[in-house]
Amino acid sequence: MTAMTRLGKLTLDAPFFQAGLAGYSDTAMRLVARRHGCPFCVTEALLDQFLIQGGKGLKSAELDDGDHPIAGQLMGSHPADIAAGAKVLLGLGYDVIDVNLACPVKKIKKKSRGGHLMSAPDEAVAILDAVIQAVGDRVPCTVKLRRGSDDSAEALGNFHRIFQAVIDLGYAGAVVHGRSVEQKYLGPSNWDFLRALTDRYGGAAGFTIGGSGDIWRAQDIFRMIDETGVDFVSVARGCIGNPWVFTQARAIMAGDDSAADAPPTIFQQRDVLLEHFKLSVSLHGEQLASRLMRKFGIRFSRHHPRGEQVKQAFISVVGLPGWRGVLDRFYGEDGPGVGGDLALPEEAEPLTCE
Ligand SMILES: Cc1cc2nc3c(=O)[nH]c(=O)nc-3n(C[C@H](O)[C@H](O)[C@H](O)COP(=O)(O)O)c2cc1C
Repeated sequence: MTAMTRLGKLTLDAPFFQAGLAGYSDTAMRLVARRHGCPFCVTEALLDQFLIQGGKGLKSAELDDGDHPIAGQLMGSHPADIAAGAKVLLGLGYDVIDVNLACPVKKIKKKSRGGHLMSAPDEAVAILDAVIQAVGDRVPCTVKLRRGSDDSAEALGNFHRIFQAVIDLGYAGAVVHGRSVEQKYLGPSNWDFLRALTDRYGGAAGFTIGGSGDIWRAQDIFRMIDETGVDFVSVARGCIGNPWVFTQARAIMAGDDSAADAPPTIFQQRDVLLEHFKLSVSLHGEQLASRLMRKFGIRFSRHHPRGEQVKQAFISVVGLPGWRGVLDRFYGEDGPGVGGDLALPEEAEPLTCE
């Protein structure tokens, strides 16, 4: 089984990582993931302007010592600004600089960044060039793309033009989400596209190809590698409220398939909820952490045998005491948790950026 992944000079000891997830993948979620065996994390997309201007945007990009190796993901529309943003991330100690060409959210697209750039290859290549010039060989650069802006032949041509430029410019790797920008989250991620991609570009020396889309269980990681030939896999919605996906993936790598199917017990769930909450409070303060943890709690509830009741309890929770009340009420006694398919219905996604 593939065990190592190389990203330029960086070596990961497992072929998966936690994706950038706007509104979720902050330091707290990343540290919890790492403690469960995740070897590498990507930040949510960080706007170059926010990094350059300083203040809150810059503060939120600061790193914990235990949060390495990590890619800082940049989003922007002007080569000079995004290059300046890359330098800010280097100064903050990021191990990899990642460029987002994937976000399909309208307010982002209207400003010519993220997924918009999939339909503007000249602009995309100028941005990619500016970032790698700014970074040089200090750390590896990577890019996150969608499989195209839509299903047209023109979109496919644009994709390949951008992808070839990524390789020619010296990027260490790329992660491709197998949905189009237009598709957002409707319908499946096209793994056949990923297969064709690795067939065509897989031999490029020193270039690593990652896949994204429809990874809900640890088994999906290795199925994607087998079926598409990607070098490593992005775990996204499948790890929200489910850091055990990483422990389970490690178990599969160790040949222990039965552990890969074992759902977390109620006490394991409680411990992780408490740990995540504590980290979130130290990062954001009690008020904001309580609000953020509500949406995590909703996702964690899927592991609980009384999932629907727990979910409703997390939805109506107010403040720290209310939150502790939910834990006392539903997580006070140990017992088996619920495993199986944790896929979300398509319409369930509250999107900020993806
Ligand atoms: C709420 C949400 C926020 C996201 N934010 C980002 C982001 O900031 N950067 C990024 O590269 N991808 C982002 N994504 C996309 C995911 O990384 C991933 O490509 C996508 O969810 C497909 O994988 P999945 O079907 O396994 O969830 C986001 C996805 C969701 C659902």
